[in-house]
Amino acid sequence: MTYKEYLQVLKEHSPYDFSEYSDNSIFRRIQKVMRDHQISLEELGARTQENRLFVEEVVEAITVNTTELFRDPDVWRFLYEKHLPNYRNNSFINVWHAGCSTGQEVYSLLILFNELGLSDKVRVFATDISQKALDIAKKGVYKHQLDRGCVENFDKVFNDNGKQQTIAFSKYFEVDEKKDEIRVKPILRNNVKFIRHDLVKKELPFYNKMDLVFCRNVLIYFNIKLQTRIVQRFFDSLYANGSLVLGAHEGLSGFFKTKFEKQGPVYKKSNVFHFRY
Ligand SMILES: C[S@@+](CC[C@H](N)C(=O)[O-])C[C@H]1O[C@@H](n2cnc3c(N)ncnc32)[C@H](O)[C@@H]1O
Repeated sequence: MTYKEYLQVLKEHSPYDFSEYSDNSIFRRIQKVMRDHQISLEELGARTQENRLFVEEVVEAITVNTTELFRDPDVWRFLYEKHLPNYRNNSFINVWHAGCSTGQEVYSLLILFNELGLSDKVRVFATDISQKALDIAKKGVYKHQLDRGCVENFDKVFNDNGKQQTIAFSKYFEVDEKKDEIRVKPILRNNVKFIRHDLVKKELPFYNKMDLVFCRNVLIYFNIKLQTRIVQRFFDSLYANGSLVLGAHEGLSGFFKTKFEKQGPVYKKSNVFHFRY
């Protein structure tokens, strides 16, 4: 059996279709599952057909959940200072975080909105294929973050601008240095729904149109055909003046370059007319 044949088996015997993920990363991940379980590709295929719980384990192993608070602080600072203030006159602000992982990106955004006094208007739909990641996201309790520079990132966004007034990390997080653990404070957890959703599937888990779609460091795992389908879905989900935010090393190519205008790290939908409803 080849890796590609294994992905066909997975597709036929489970709700998951990884056949359009980019080859290198997915094959490495499957190899790791085989190593961890000491099984061959044939045995992996057999277990996948027989055991649903095992399939869930494989899906968790295949997805890469790396994330951090205010990852790429320059992007967040741009959003805070230049982009998000544009939503001041909205009566509501709908946001979709696609591939939100364990939620740090979601809470980063909610902090920006809170600092801008726009929290009450924001409704966030945060989705991911990984149930494990979503369970952590809902709790908002993170281990081993302090040495990964989360406070430094926070300060780069808010406190590195020569202004007198600073914003304390402790305004939003309870910090337990002994346990090396941070907890998101309840004020950030009111207007977000974490929902399990597979981006490969056509159906969306909400009916709302979006003002802002985040999909950072997710498309890199997909081949071009799948990326194109998903970006089209983001485009359709956005209001006429909506915006898309991708990862720092991701970009739009071909057709979509004409459909979005790049403003700093933000892709703003352009050349189209939509009713806001
Ligand atoms: C590297 S993380 C990125 C997290 C966050 N957006 C960030 O940039 O920090 C990629 C996330 O995409 C999710 N993912 C992968 N395939 C997916 C799919 N088909 N549908 C939804 N989420 C998916 C993974 O579970 C993982 O949480």
